[in-house]
Amino acid sequence: MKGQVTIVGCGVSGLTTGIVLREAGYDAHVVAAALPQDTVSARAAALWFPFQIGPVELANFWSKIAYDRFVSLAADPTTGVRMADLLQLVATEADAWWKDALPSKAIRLARPDECPVGFSIGYVMQVPIIETPVYLGWLMDRFVALGGKVMLKKVQDLETLGPDDLPIVNCTGLGARDLVGDTSLYAIRGQIVMVAPAIQASAMSADMALWGSNTDLAYIIPRQDCIVLGGNAVIGIEELGVDEQATKCIVDRCSQLDKRMRELPILGVEVGLRPGRKEIRLEREGRIIHNYGHGGGGYTVSWGCAEAVLNLMKKMSV
Ligand code: BEZ
Repeated sequence: MKGQVTIVGCGVSGLTTGIVLREAGYDAHVVAAALPQDTVSARAAALWFPFQIGPVELANFWSKIAYDRFVSLAADPTTGVRMADLLQLVATEADAWWKDALPSKAIRLARPDECPVGFSIGYVMQVPIIETPVYLGWLMDRFVALGGKVMLKKVQDLETLGPDDLPIVNCTGLGARDLVGDTSLYAIRGQIVMVAPAIQASAMSADMALWGSNTDLAYIIPRQDCIVLGGNAVIGIEELGVDEQATKCIVDRCSQLDKRMRELPILGVEVGLRPGRKEIRLEREGRIIHNYGHGGGGYTVSWGCAEAVLNLMKKMSV
């Protein structure tokens, strides 16, 4: 076994990093203020799609690595990951900056008759859909099965995590604002609406540009226990209460993609704060490796960023 490593944060980034480090032989453990089901990762939609994340080249590179790992995980139904067709509607083909992150056989231009009325440009892409409650449980089980331990404790200062040559991986998401004083991190408030899975729905999403908005988009993501309708991305509001008007608008936009959405009973509404940052912070600073600022793409880049952490760790004498 290689040396000990402490990961701070137990959302999708912290746990995935823990698994990758343990698989590589590091004695990695997690310290976190909250368990996965109480992190923003539990309130994600979630499917593979690099949303509000940068920089473009690295986001695509890390998304590609994660895509391949999710394809393997989808072979095991206990992971909560499955592959499905997503119809991604865009205003122009140039908006599809993420398309090179997919294997070429997994994406094609949609035929006009495949697009809902009023939409004309789209891509049909095979993407991983992630049932967050199942997947977060699977990540935790896998980490523990590899020998990892999770300690519940709010870390106030990374420097107090000892001994002082102990490598630390900072996967605290928005928490890094206070923890390491990163003022370039900002909250991107998102709301999703869970409706009854009473019909067979297809995964569909329509970019913000199609709604003439810089806060509103639409997506329909079928899960086993519900259909997730989204969404929005509001910067500067950190209120976690449900915005009833936003719920109505989300159902309305999704009904323009598939009119049956309007008829489905609402089961619940969730609000989360995405950790926005112009660029993901993935770099070493002394004994600390930072891995945060994944915007709306935490799941999408998770395995790629965890591998990047491993590569930085290999350069430390641990
Ligand atoms: C989001 O709302 O953050 C999101 C939705 C679908 C895919 C990726 C991110």
